[in-house]
Amino acid sequence: MKVLTVFGTRPEAIKMAPLVKRLNLEPGIESVLCVTAQHREMLDQVLDLFQLKPDYDLNIMQPNQTISAITANVLTGIEEVFVKERPDIVLVHGDTTTTFAASLAAFYNKVKIGHVEAGLRTYDKYSPYPEEMNRVLTSHLADFHFAPTENNRLNLLKEGVTDDAIFVTGNTVIDALLEVADKPYSFQDETLKGIDFINKRVITVTCHRRENLGEYMVQIFSAIRDLTLEFSDIEIIYPVHMNPKVRSTANEILKGIDRVHLIEPLQYQPFVNLMAKSYLIITDSGGMQEEAPALGKPVLVVRKETERPEAVAAGTVKLAGVERETIYGMARKLLTDASAHQRMANAINPYGDGHAAEHIISILKRRV
Ligand code: UD1
Ligand code: UDP
Repeated sequence: MKVLTVFGTRPEAIKMAPLVKRLNLEPGIESVLCVTAQHREMLDQVLDLFQLKPDYDLNIMQPNQTISAITANVLTGIEEVFVKERPDIVLVHGDTTTTFAASLAAFYNKVKIGHVEAGLRTYDKYSPYPEEMNRVLTSHLADFHFAPTENNRLNLLKEGVTDDAIFVTGNTVIDALLEVADKPYSFQDETLKGIDFINKRVITVTCHRRENLGEYMVQIFSAIRDLTLEFSDIEIIYPVHMNPKVRSTANEILKGIDRVHLIEPLQYQPFVNLMAKSYLIITDSGGMQEEAPALGKPVLVVRKETERPEAVAAGTVKLAGVERETIYGMARKLLTDASAHQRMANAINPYGDGHAAEHIISILKRRV
C-alpha cells in the first residue's frame, strides 16, 4: 500500500510526525511525504526535530499570503505528485488550507482520502476562519475519518458520514507530546535560561488566528500588558508567530514592557518544556488546548468559541473571549485565587492514550 502524507504548517507537522515516523517503518507500506511548506521556518523546525525528510517540497509560502493563493498553489503544485506517485490513499490533517486544497486535489485525481483529526466543529462558518469550513469541506471529500474523540464522531454522524467510515483514534498530538515531554531537557534559549521559574510565575502566550488579527489582538495584548502592571511576580513568555500582521501588533503593544519577553517561535521540545513550567497559558491555538490538559496547565482561550469542548468540560480550559476586561479579569482571578487555579490545574487527558498513530495504521491496513 502506498500512503502519501501531505501537510504544510507547524501544527500539522507536529501532529502528523508520529504517524509518518511509524508509516516509514511499517512493513507492507510505502510511505511518501509531501510538504506544501505553507509555513517555511516554522515547518522546518518540526521536520528537524522529528528528523523527517520530505520526498516532495512544494515550497509555496509567500509573505502575507492570501487564502486563495495558498489554495491555488497547493492545488496546482500537488498535481504532479499525484500523477507520479499514484498513491492508494492520501492522509491529510485537521483544518488548514493545505489540508482542504490537498483533499480537493486528491478527489480530482480519484485518490482515497484519510482525514486525521476529523469531526471538530464550532458550527460558525467564520470562526475559526477559514478553518471551520476547511474542516467541513474536507469531511465531505474524505473516505476515512479519524476522529480524536467520541464527540467528534457524533458531529460527523450528524452530517451524514456513515458510521463505518469513522474511527475514534485519539489525537496524534498526544503521541507527539508524550514522545517529547518524556525526554530530559534544559533550555538553550538565552531568554528562557534567564527566567527564574521558581520564584516567578510564568505565563506562556501565543496568538495567531486570522479572525483575531487587528482589533481583537489589540484587546488581548492590552489585557496582558495590564496584568504585568499589576503583578510584579509574573513573566510573560511570548514566542511570536511569524505572521507579519501578528508581529506588528505584538510589537506595538508589548515591546519594551518590563517582564514581557517577545521571542522567536520555539522548537517543539523547548516549547513543551516551557508549557510544563508555566503557571498559566493564554492562547488562541487549537493544539495547545489539547496539550495543556495533558500537562495539567490552566489555559485561557482568547477566542469567542472553541471546537474543543472536551478540554473545557474537563475544566482545564476556559473560554476568555477577546475583550480586554474579561481576559484581564479571568487571568487576575487565577493569579490571586490559588484554589481557582488548582481546580483548573488537574492533569487529565480527553484526547487519547498516545497510541493514535498506531490505531490509524492498523485501520489503514485493514481497510485500504
Ligand atoms: C496557518 C493556518 C491555520 C493554522 C496556523 C498554525 C490557513 C489559512 N491557516 O495560519 O489554520 O492554525 O497556520 O500556525 O491554513 N510566516 C513565515 N514563516 C513561517 C510561517 C508563516 O514567515 O514559517 C508568515 C508568512 O508571511 C505567511 C504568514 O506568516 O504569509 C501567514 O501564514 P499562513 O499559513 O497564511 O497563516 P497562519 O496564520 O500561519
Ligand atoms: N508550538 C511550538 N513552538 C511555539 C509555539 C507553539 O512548537 O513557539 C506548538 C504548540 O505546542 C502546538 C502547536 O505548535 O503543538 C500550535 O501551533 P499553532 O499555534 O501555530 O497552530 P494551532 O494549534 O492553532 O493550529
